[in-house]
Amino acid sequence: MAEQLAGLKRTCRCAELTKEDVGKTVTVMGWVHARRDLGALLFAWIRDVSGVIQAVFSEDFDKEAYEKASALRHEFVVAVTGTLVLRDESAVNRDLKTGEIEINATSLKILNASEVPPFHIDDSSDNVNDALRLTYRYLDLRRPEVQKGLIMRHEVAQIARNYFSEQQFMEIETPILTKSTPEGARDYLVPSRVHPGKFYALPQSPQLYKQLLMIAGMDRYFQLARCFRDEDLRADRQPEFTQIDLEMSFVEADDVISVNEGFIKKVFKDLKGIDLVTPFPRMCYREAMERYGSDKPDTRFGVEIHDLSDLVKDCEFGVFTSAIEAGGSVRCITAPDAAEKFSRKDMDKLVDLCKLFRAKGMAWITIMPDGEIKSSIAKFFTEEQMQTIIARAEAKAGDVIMIVADRNRVVFDALGNLRLEIGKRLDLINPDDYNFLWVTEFPLLEYDEEEGRYVAMHHPFTSPMDEDLHLLDTNPGEVRAKAYDIILNGVELGGGSIRIHSQEIQKKMFKAIGMSEEEAQSRFSFLLDAFRFGAPPHGGMAYGFDRLIMLLSGKSSIRDIIAFPKVQNASELMNGAPSYVDDKQLTELALSITAETEE
Ligand code: AMO
Repeated sequence: MAEQLAGLKRTCRCAELTKEDVGKTVTVMGWVHARRDLGALLFAWIRDVSGVIQAVFSEDFDKEAYEKASALRHEFVVAVTGTLVLRDESAVNRDLKTGEIEINATSLKILNASEVPPFHIDDSSDNVNDALRLTYRYLDLRRPEVQKGLIMRHEVAQIARNYFSEQQFMEIETPILTKSTPEGARDYLVPSRVHPGKFYALPQSPQLYKQLLMIAGMDRYFQLARCFRDEDLRADRQPEFTQIDLEMSFVEADDVISVNEGFIKKVFKDLKGIDLVTPFPRMCYREAMERYGSDKPDTRFGVEIHDLSDLVKDCEFGVFTSAIEAGGSVRCITAPDAAEKFSRKDMDKLVDLCKLFRAKGMAWITIMPDGEIKSSIAKFFTEEQMQTIIARAEAKAGDVIMIVADRNRVVFDALGNLRLEIGKRLDLINPDDYNFLWVTEFPLLEYDEEEGRYVAMHHPFTSPMDEDLHLLDTNPGEVRAKAYDIILNGVELGGGSIRIHSQEIQKKMFKAIGMSEEEAQSRFSFLLDAFRFGAPPHGGMAYGFDRLIMLLSGKSSIRDIIAFPKVQNASELMNGAPSYVDDKQLTELALSITAETEE
């Protein structure tokens, strides 16, 4: 039977007790984390969000409490009152924060019983099947390791609020029921009951609202904003996620960057005691692609890409020459000291990895430690040509050169991903490093072959660079944007830009992405109108809050640091969302289901 608190108050949380409190009468409340029954003595570890404390039950301390304690099982909810004492030297547990003390229990209330949980609630239960853990997420969340992630979320949110408030940013909420903004993903739609046949879109980001707040004269805005994107889940992507979103008036890119370096510096100092050196390095998009094959390079290790095109353009190997003739290139990376580490099977796997990124294959040159050269393409090259390639690849005895020839986009993608795999396999990455990098000068537009038109690389409100503006009508693919992404250890932590604030340029931008004037009017007339009434120059950015916490807490997926995450197929295992609704609700919304349902 569950007992009532009946006025009982706890004196503090379990792991807040210290040696200083010895001799005091204390009351803690929490869950039975572990128990050990030695007959005359019964030990129970009581756990709450702060940690655990050991309670000892004995007839000598209190007969009634001792007898009641024999009923305790894992996850029972209890209130224990007793005297805090020092443990015997032999019983001290150095692994526990409260390992030198314990409570001699004089009273026990069983506030609730618990069935045997479906898995042991312990950090060692990491091997429990993920689906089971997420179905019982409220039990999984009892694990200290999982709670740590949520606590860190809270702490970073507090730092963000304090830091940006001190910098004169104002926290302003923007609507959740809104109109679609093109951020690149599919929208989640909400049907309107009042306007049959019409839908709200959940925001993919507060992009346009924050720009309108600048036009409204709010000067500096920030928000911990919930965003919704109907896109495929990945380790660093969830359908709903949180951004630390901000916008500033009367600024250029450098101003946004420096305020944000201050923020990141503060987070790392306050949370980890790490003094980051600012300003962070910057690299333009083109350099990032050419050196790392990625616009979010992991700069914790080298293995940079080298261009071999000029060396091999006249060679005998058709795969290389035809790639170059078709406007592509031949590039390579060098895996250091890998000659004796990679078996033939390993090499086949690396070739497969390149194929996954649409490369037709991967050629390799292995330089054995004694200098002997083994290569899949040896027969096409003279000894001298081989040596020039090896020199360009900066390879030495013991290294393996891996070469991809294709369209540039494919070459970068394949080698960029191959490079990451090599970094992992050869253990070249120091997990304790935090390498920040700003990537700048992104192309404003990229050509979408499927759609047969240019699309905005970030979003269509990003300003072109002043010196490239004249190309917007004539050569849109060459225009660079006033955009910047912040990269941490190869993860895109956030991104932003200086925005277009002139109606004329905004219209040109819509035209460049193939949007007719009518469509631009029907979707964005409110923005174009707003530009007519004195829009200040403005810019900002947004961090993936979940990604920041994931990296700070050393997790490999944002799922681990979201209280109630979704799984691969975008459902929530605990409550079964999404679910069918009553016909009555559908009728009210003027909807009918035409597609076949799942079951
Ligand atoms: P962007 O689309 O680059 O920019 O998003 C900003 C940051 O949000 C994070 N992010 C995600 N995190 C988890 N799950 C997702 N599905 C997901 N999608 C994005 C990333 C990303 O860098 N309005 C602009 C920002 C601006 O220009 O100010 C925007 O949303 O860390």
